Amino acid sequence: MRMRKRHNLEPRLAACAAVVTEDPFSCRGEWLARYPGHTRLELELGCGKGRFTADTAAASPGTLLVAVEKVPDAMVLATERCLRRGLTNVRFIDGDAARLGDLFAPGEVSRLYINFCDPWPKSRDAKFRLTAPSFLRLYADALPLGGEICFKTDNAPLFAWSVEQFQAEGWELRDVTDDLHAQGPVGVMTDYEAKFYEEGVPIHRLVAVRTAETKTTAAGPVPRLRDAALEDARGSHFSLHLENATRQLCHAYYRNFQQDPDLFEDKSKLKPYRYDPDKVNKFFSERRNRPDRRYYYILQGDEVIGDLVYKKIDPERKSCEIGICLVNDSYKNRGLGTAAEKLALRFGFEELGMETVLADSLLSNTRSQHVLLKLGFELTAEDEHFRYFRITREQFSELLRKGSI
Ligand SMILES: C[S@@+](CC[C@H](N)C(=O)[O-])C[C@H]1O[C@@H](n2cnc3c(N)ncnc32)[C@H](O)[C@@H]1O
Repeated sequence: MRMRKRHNLEPRLAACAAVVTEDPFSCRGEWLARYPGHTRLELELGCGKGRFTADTAAASPGTLLVAVEKVPDAMVLATERCLRRGLTNVRFIDGDAARLGDLFAPGEVSRLYINFCDPWPKSRDAKFRLTAPSFLRLYADALPLGGEICFKTDNAPLFAWSVEQFQAEGWELRDVTDDLHAQGPVGVMTDYEAKFYEEGVPIHRLVAVRTAETKTTAAGPVPRLRDAALEDARGSHFSLHLENATRQLCHAYYRNFQQDPDLFEDKSKLKPYRYDPDKVNKFFSERRNRPDRRYYYILQGDEVIGDLVYKKIDPERKSCEIGICLVNDSYKNRGLGTAAEKLALRFGFEELGMETVLADSLLSNTRSQHVLLKLGFELTAEDEHFRYFRITREQFSELLRKGSI
């Protein structure tokens, strides 16, 4: 919902100067010193009109509550609300949660609230969700070990997706519920929540705790969901992007999966694949325990078209091996395999910082060998089963320069 333009926004915000931090970047690492009399700092992202902000601050006078809101027309209502209530332990930042790293020093925030954030339902917009992996890594930086995120939403698909992101990013989940107010109202409600509660809409809530396994920004990049605008074999344009492997995407992949005959030297071993949700769950859980691997899915719009793995990742040598498997034959001979390899190479070199990328292919899989050679890989070795390929950063840069990748 678009926020209505407020009358006299500027003078109204100016009148709330006592609760608005004008230069929040200068407070980084010093919030509690700047605003003495508080023992801890809590942060609310996307406070909207501020009902939750005001009630939470009122309930804990010893806590400094900082609220970030990127729409001033909403924020002004929250600031006026807090002033009216005479609250002195709340400060507002007119800004974007994406700047968190510039606003708070590592471990400076004890608890973080995300309430009813925008769901961004289209998968190409997933990166804007406040529970997207790149945001979770920013939060992990700002929280100490044991620090927590309290997340509430009315949106069931967003909640299910967020649970997967938290788990994949190594957060410990507590107090997970799909109907927070089933036995009557619980805790401080937000403006949106109060409305949903009146309407009988169930509220999903979880608490995510930062542990030693939680990924911070130091863990490296998450796929930027970078679009690769490409042309298929018939000359029509399409675009692919990568997403972190989640359980949901894993199921979407295997629901349509068919064995690839090219991957069987002995075709008599080829058996039709039957989707079994339990087996997929087990497979997904086992995959997560491989520290030398990273898994992604390749999507065309909302459709999962392939599985991408970077394996044998060697952090010292900055080398890895890539493997791509398209969901089934219907995606072949359309230029999608080549496009997916290009995307995987770009992500490997540009985002994962690899210096060498390796690939191998069964001798019988001439189609895959053709794709690798066409892309710019060189053949380095061959044995009785496989051909082995390699591409270095230098070779990749040359391809980029020529515009062929
Ligand atoms: C759906 S409203 C919910 C407001 C409030 N939390 C509630 O529950 O009533 C989401 C709010 O988050 C704000 N928001 C969305 N993305 C943001 C971001 N990246 N940084 C700061 N605020 C954001 C929006 O402007 C909006 O006010």
